[in-house]
Amino acid sequence: MTLAEATSRPREEALERRYGAATPHAIAGIGPWNDVLDCLLAHRSVRGYRPDPLPAGTLETLVAAAQSAATSSNMQLWSVIATTDPTKKAELAVIAGNQKHIEQCPLFLLWVADLSRHERLGTAEGVEMPTLPYVETLMVAAIDAALAAQNAVVAAESLGLSTVYIGAMRNNPVRVAEIFGLPDKVFGVFGLCVGYAAAGKEGEVKPRLPQEAVLFHERYGVSDETAIRAAYDRELAAFSRRQEMTDATWTSRVLSRMGRMAGMNGRENMRAWLAKLGFPLE
Ligand SMILES: Cc1cc2nc3c(=O)[nH]c(=O)nc-3n(C[C@H](O)[C@H](O)[C@H](O)COP(=O)(O)O)c2cc1C
Repeated sequence: MTLAEATSRPREEALERRYGAATPHAIAGIGPWNDVLDCLLAHRSVRGYRPDPLPAGTLETLVAAAQSAATSSNMQLWSVIATTDPTKKAELAVIAGNQKHIEQCPLFLLWVADLSRHERLGTAEGVEMPTLPYVETLMVAAIDAALAAQNAVVAAESLGLSTVYIGAMRNNPVRVAEIFGLPDKVFGVFGLCVGYAAAGKEGEVKPRLPQEAVLFHERYGVSDETAIRAAYDRELAAFSRRQEMTDATWTSRVLSRMGRMAGMNGRENMRAWLAKLGFPLE
């Protein structure tokens, strides 16, 4: 094996895991590589944790990584609330539809869109802040929160920790706000479990759609979407059989989540919940 072949092998393996071995065309043309990319492409959500606490300072390191993310106009419209409290985590697990990993993980983080800091700043400076009630401002805050959290996820994984996002905090954002004592104009966008994967729960990289489905050049346009989806369905069904003992395809998952109102888990009430939490959304 040449040196070039030896160094390109980890890259090829990582790409095969990310897209599935049956879609090798996806990897053609992918160029440079390094350890950061190895870490990014090895991502998988983990849904079973050991109780072991995290090394001292881990939370602060993750937050430093989160604060290193870009943030719209440097507004930093997000905050994060950490909990290790078993009672809190037990109730959050129930809100999330009995997701046991919330109880198991040693650290749970609630990432919030936070307009309250800016409102307080306005009050202190005697300025009313007319921009706060707008959809655009919530969108900016939610984007900021997501970018920050994803930096924390990558940082955690680079340290050998595992994570899983918990969007199911939005099943009942009003109760979540009560649990964490969130002030008006603060909304829990999602949670994040952080910890060490339990034995046998490390999971596997979940293949993604081939790049032809998501990457366009110059103009939006998909060719042969039916064939692309059929191939990806086969890939994801194989993953489901290995990891979850089901035959679920990507198509069946999309239809179950987005093709029926039950897939919303009550979140069709979001506008009313947001109004209660101080987001009139003009
Ligand atoms: C915003 C967001 C919310 C999510 N919410 C949940 C959740 O409530 N429970 C869960 O088990 N996984 C949740 N996930 C994890 C996704 O199911 C997971 O990322 C996806 O299936 C891809 O798998 P992977 O992360 O292992 O690549 C969420 C992911 C994101 C980005």
